[in-house]
Amino acid sequence: MKFDIKNRILELLLEGWDASGKSKTVSGEKISKELGISRVMVNRYIRELMDEGFIIEAKKYKGYRVINIPDVIYPSVIRLKYTGNNEFKFIIFDEISSTNTYCLENAKNLEDRTVVIANHQTQGKGRFGRSWYSENSKDITMSILLKPNIHIDEVVKYTMSASIAVLEALRNLDIDNLFIKWPNDIMYNDRKLCGILVETILEYTTGLVETIVIGIGLNVNSSPSRIIPTSTSVYEILGFEVKRYSLIGMILSNFDSILQMTYNSIFTEWKKNIGYIGKRICVKYGDVSLQCTLVDVSRTGEIIVDDNNTIKKFSFGEVSLIV
Ligand code: BTN
Repeated sequence: MKFDIKNRILELLLEGWDASGKSKTVSGEKISKELGISRVMVNRYIRELMDEGFIIEAKKYKGYRVINIPDVIYPSVIRLKYTGNNEFKFIIFDEISSTNTYCLENAKNLEDRTVVIANHQTQGKGRFGRSWYSENSKDITMSILLKPNIHIDEVVKYTMSASIAVLEALRNLDIDNLFIKWPNDIMYNDRKLCGILVETILEYTTGLVETIVIGIGLNVNSSPSRIIPTSTSVYEILGFEVKRYSLIGMILSNFDSILQMTYNSIFTEWKKNIGYIGKRICVKYGDVSLQCTLVDVSRTGEIIVDDNNTIKKFSFGEVSLIV
């Protein structure tokens, strides 16, 4: 409730935001009228926003003006960076067990194109039943819920689109040497920067995928390599912090436009960015681990490997480079 009111206040204040910090001055009276709350309450919420790090200029008889936005996640702030044609609905938690679990458990009541974001996950999930570590209010942990009603074979289009969307957002920050480690990890110089966990709900009678949950864990302002040496973050790469809301806005804008592309173009873009092609890799699936050469990826999203001159395909598993 409080969060929603602050979000509405920000919406009004940020209407004329032009990134150079020159937002419009909005009178306390206007905010109070639009929201149906007293001027005293408006003032109290503005103070709370300032405590959260917003720099807001308050001028007597004139009103309030936002000068600077901190690294906070409000829908109205994310929308400043969203350039897509189709709207997303946002649900934001300060803390939750897992944004993917929340989506799966509440799928019936959630609309298509709902994005669930948490500042902190207490039981973040990774692939293969692993846990996903992220630092409170430093990283991006979000799930995009879609209700496409599609055949299971089409899910791959969404996972490919999500990894390209993240990759392009990172390239937009001038990060080079990025590639996709099959199927959808985003790597920087062999260190993991982002993991994607896709979960689906099948409709029992039709057998179609009713709900897709695309969980994105992106290391942004944390220093994960201290804990997991094979991982990295945007901060570790660039040496300065980046606003999470800005990256979320870019990822969602990219995702929205990639989904408009033909499958052929999405696949081509995904394939272009797949790493380790021609290299010796180890594929792990269940208890089996196979040393082979990565030859290619198939149009249906599998890896094609050469195992002592026998060509094999895998649609599931984990790849690592043999050094
Ligand atoms: C991986 O193992 O590489 C996938 C990691 C996916 C982590 C994200 S964080 C947001 C969403 N919620 C979860 O519990 N997991 C995914």
